[in-house]
Amino acid sequence: KIPVLLDCDTGFDDAFAIAMAIASDRLEVKGVTTVAGNYTLPDVLLNTKRTLSITDPSVPYAVGAAQPLLRPLYTHGHPTHMMEELGDPDIAPDPRGAVEFMADILRESDEPITLIPLGPLTNIAVLLAAHPELKEKIKEMVIMGGSVYSGNTTPSAEFNIYVDPEAAHMVFKSGVPIVMCGLEVCEDARVNPDHAHRLIELGNPTAVAYGNELLRGFTVGESIIFDAVPVAYILHPEIVKTERYYVEVDITGGLSAGCTVTDTRAFHHDDAPAPNTTVAMSMDREKFGELLVELFANY
Ligand code: BDR
Ligand code: CA
Repeated sequence: KIPVLLDCDTGFDDAFAIAMAIASDRLEVKGVTTVAGNYTLPDVLLNTKRTLSITDPSVPYAVGAAQPLLRPLYTHGHPTHMMEELGDPDIAPDPRGAVEFMADILRESDEPITLIPLGPLTNIAVLLAAHPELKEKIKEMVIMGGSVYSGNTTPSAEFNIYVDPEAAHMVFKSGVPIVMCGLEVCEDARVNPDHAHRLIELGNPTAVAYGNELLRGFTVGESIIFDAVPVAYILHPEIVKTERYYVEVDITGGLSAGCTVTDTRAFHHDDAPAPNTTVAMSMDREKFGELLVELFANY
């Protein structure tokens, strides 16, 4: 089994990623850590507990950063309404904070662990800064965040990177192998009402809850399940097309603050740094949809 740790600002799509990772018999979810992003930390924690309560309450979770390293928290600004019928499940967090929780798991593991960061990179940056000796215990970081071309929160920045650009900058400079699942590949993570109905038809309580949640979420007939892309990549790299590029985050604070500036120049420039990132560019849409439904059949 591939050991993984998920770091989430649990909203709708993070909840899918957690469920899919837990459902896979090829992944071993060592834990879930939480970070403010989609919502403030209390709402993220509530969503995380709801998610674990209907997937696997025995998976440990730990509480992470309530705000970015240097900036005030920018969130989507509306409170969570995710899976309200689950209330406030009584599952206690691990007594360690997110960073120490991850550090202990990395330290104690015999084999390198894959990190799956799905929110702002605050916890991950602190982990790498506080415990640089543990970098070698990280197999790779398969990140949902960033984009090669344009953003979704500003014209040039994707949400997770925009919220904590300084943290993202540290992570991209860390030297740990990175797979960036940005906005381009996420275009291929679109699901439609047919997928929702197929989840409901599976009939198990987890799939039914997620199917209904998906139906509630449709505003334009389709939804993008951004955060499920890293999970799909880890399970089926053959359905994702990647390219190697040098990526650096703009922390200068101007118009393109939080942009993952990607060096796609076709001709070699002597001043160009070597590629530091495997960038996912596209994915087989149909296979992604099939994988999603297939994994929920395991509940
Ligand atoms: C990312 O931002 C959040 O809204 C989602 O959970 C996802 O991680 C997409 O830009
Ligand atoms: Ca997220």
